[in-house]
Amino acid sequence: MAKVSIRNVWKKYGEFPAVKDLNIECPDGSFLSILGPSGCGKSSTMRMIAGLEHITAGDIYFDEQRINDLAPKDRDVSMVFENYALYPHKTVFDNMANPLKLRGQDSARIKERVGQAANLLEIGELLHRRPQELSGGQKQRVAIGRAIVREPKLFLFDEPIAHLDAKLRAHMRGEIKHLQRTLGTTMIYVTHDQLEAMSMADTIAVMHEGELQQLGSPREVYNNPVNAWVAGFVGEPAMNFLTCDVRGDGGEVLLAHPNFGIALKPEQVKCLNGRKGGGSVRMGVRPDALNIALERPAEPAIAGEVFVNELLGGDMIVEVQLSDARVRVKTSPEFPGNPGDKCYLTVNRDKWHAFATDTGKAYF
Ligand SMILES: Nc1ncnc2c1ncn2[C@@H]1O[C@H](COP(=O)(O)OP(=O)(O)OP(=O)(O)O)[C@@H](O)[C@H]1O
Ligand SMILES: [Mg+2]
Repeated sequence: MAKVSIRNVWKKYGEFPAVKDLNIECPDGSFLSILGPSGCGKSSTMRMIAGLEHITAGDIYFDEQRINDLAPKDRDVSMVFENYALYPHKTVFDNMANPLKLRGQDSARIKERVGQAANLLEIGELLHRRPQELSGGQKQRVAIGRAIVREPKLFLFDEPIAHLDAKLRAHMRGEIKHLQRTLGTTMIYVTHDQLEAMSMADTIAVMHEGELQQLGSPREVYNNPVNAWVAGFVGEPAMNFLTCDVRGDGGEVLLAHPNFGIALKPEQVKCLNGRKGGGSVRMGVRPDALNIALERPAEPAIAGEVFVNELLGGDMIVEVQLSDARVRVKTSPEFPGNPGDKCYLTVNRDKWHAFATDTGKAYF
């Protein structure tokens, strides 16, 4: 087990910087997810940690040991990739035993370790089969089994379940999380799926275009995104954004949009310091922080028109047309509105965000 420290790390392919000045601390025994869209530098980061890619600048430490120049085989890490990379002609047992054989362990010990890992992953009955006789989920478990038999310092999982079907992915999410907690081995887990990162990780490192955007717990990243990009990437359905003016109005400060005005709380005004007299901000509000009704409520409300309803089992997502934008609202499946109906939205005053229109930086 090891703490992993990534300090001022850069990866350049020629002139192209794929990873820019990355700083991440992953505590010993914890589950860190690197989250970001395709091409943001996740795999490049993983390959530098594993030793499969040269570190252009900066340092990586396992505990207090700088590992930049350590050969991959001496780093004591186990990797699992999206393509399981199993040996097709070997049985499940031999695939899992391979890393131990390479280390010259005796056959009794190998049998014991493979047996334990197979039990943990519930693939004990499959040990005699070959990869082509397995389902995708079973192959994935064999690949994970091969990674855990040798009790490494660190697991590096790179989109390991990305191409399984949705139901199996949900199942494997729980299994991998449970496995990591049981073994207590430090895990770095790459995904572009925010739901995976949110549901599994202790800490999420959100990356975009080679740069770390935010490092925090799933709750922090969801509730207090540092910028509009993170706010829009994390959460499904995505956060709604509306450009609004900030106006002083008889002592009150208002967030003004063609469809509505919201009085700001004093602490919100403080966060917007300097912008009080005017200027625009991007308001961000998640679909579940909006309420929708067909009758105009007593409190100030945003008038709009139902554009479309999507029933998602236990929830309904209603897309509402405002004068210059559409927003999505999460409500109950019993919502009676139909496309074309007039409707009214109210905002939970504690649950919206304001971002700078130019930099996207969060005021709150
Ligand atoms: N060997 C390479 N040579 C040149 N450019 C590369 C190389 N490997 C990756 N890149 C580029 O670096 C950037 C980051 O790639 P990387 O594989 O780290 O992304 P990723 O976040 O893992 O994406 P994905 O989710 O698609 O796997 C991309 O623009 C990619 O095209
Ligand atoms: Mg990748």
